Amino acid sequence: MRLVQITDTHISHLGGSPSTNAARFVEYINTLNPDLVVHTGDVTILDPDEDRDRIAAKQILAGIAAPLRVLPGNHDVGEPGDDPFGDRPVTSDRVAAFRAHFGIDRFVDIVDGWAIIGFNSELFDSGLPEEDEQWAWIETLPEQVGPRPVVIFTHKPVRAYAPEHQNTHLSIGPDSLPRLEKVLAELDVRAYGSGHLHHYALTERDGAAVVSAPSTAFVHRGAISADVVGPGLAQLGVVEYELGERVLPAFRAPLGIVEPEFLEVEQARIALDAMGVTL
Ligand SMILES: [Fe+2]
Ligand SMILES: [Fe+2]
Repeated sequence: MRLVQITDTHISHLGGSPSTNAARFVEYINTLNPDLVVHTGDVTILDPDEDRDRIAAKQILAGIAAPLRVLPGNHDVGEPGDDPFGDRPVTSDRVAAFRAHFGIDRFVDIVDGWAIIGFNSELFDSGLPEEDEQWAWIETLPEQVGPRPVVIFTHKPVRAYAPEHQNTHLSIGPDSLPRLEKVLAELDVRAYGSGHLHHYALTERDGAAVVSAPSTAFVHRGAISADVVGPGLAQLGVVEYELGERVLPAFRAPLGIVEPEFLEVEQARIALDAMGVTL
């Protein structure tokens, strides 16, 4: 079975390169003919309170022919922790606004003997009632999927590149990790796929592939230290997973993609201004 992960599309209702790139990737994904497509979040450009970006994103993603699952990123629902980007903490209202457009923010799909699991990384350490609901569901996963091989998708990585960087900006919340590890130990996890870091990297942990998927919108060339997030390829693309006897992840991209830095994207600068954020 073939699965494609797309992430960090950062689509704006004002159009521009994030939209044209996303549309190009949608077309390209269809040529890969996947059985399932998973979007791992940061669907919209920057502000979780801008519904017009969600509407624009939904329109572009509707071009994907395969079944599509969409998980939220920090720019879709806000983030937990003391210092959320743009003073947009994750809240019940923001999660509800995301769900109203893209459906429930967690899933388990059984496809071709594989269990494809996704959950909302922004709820960990949030203290919201939605976090408790998600935990209750996560703790049923070993029973739900049994011995099947598993792929786990989240926006932020489950584990930071280095344990000292396990924090709500770079990974799931550190207080939640031990509880999640207990559940993961009961699953036959063959791969993890996350977004958020805007670079492609493939590493390994306990025999499982650990994939950081690239954005389709913009790169952070050199802006994030490799000591903090690990080495990676600062290019725009998607990740194709062949799931058979083993997992085979691969970086994929079509020709003709524009690869700007974050601040070179006009729509990003406009969104930052509207949010009152200066970088
Ligand atoms: Fe992002
Ligand atoms: Fe993100």
